[in-house]
Amino acid sequence: MNLLVLHGPNLNLLGEREPEVYGKTTLAQLNAALRKRARQLKASLRIFQSNGEGALIDLLHKHRRWADGVVFNPGAYTHYSYALRDAVSACNVPTIEVHLSDISQREEFRRVSVIAPACRAQITGKGVGSYLEALDRLAGRENGQ
Ligand code: DQA
Repeated sequence: MNLLVLHGPNLNLLGEREPEVYGKTTLAQLNAALRKRARQLKASLRIFQSNGEGALIDLLHKHRRWADGVVFNPGAYTHYSYALRDAVSACNVPTIEVHLSDISQREEFRRVSVIAPACRAQITGKGVGSYLEALDRLAGRENGQ
């Protein structure tokens, strides 16, 4: 099974960016945890981070025939990018939207995801655990067993 993880804008600054909201784990540490879980799941994993909407669309297009599942944290694009929502729909690969923070408990503008309707599920508020749970679900291991 081939799994793609996409991190959106500002997630390259994880660890130093608003640690009270997003935690102290760096992107490199998060990615190491994802690679470890993928090995346990016997899945091939590709991980990318981009600050650009167009670059994220290009990555979805490029991997649409390779990936069996996508874990996508679109960052702030979550709340207004119809182009990314269309890309998720167009690629037709099961996609789980993830967020480190609980976007339902933050500012008003973060409560809406325009991308979620194109996704199989949305997992929020569990920090690194949001991503790990998404990998498990895409691999068909609902409880990580
Ligand atoms: C985020 C939540 C978004 O609202 C925010 O713009 C981010 C990170 C999260 O992982 O909690 O950049 O996607």
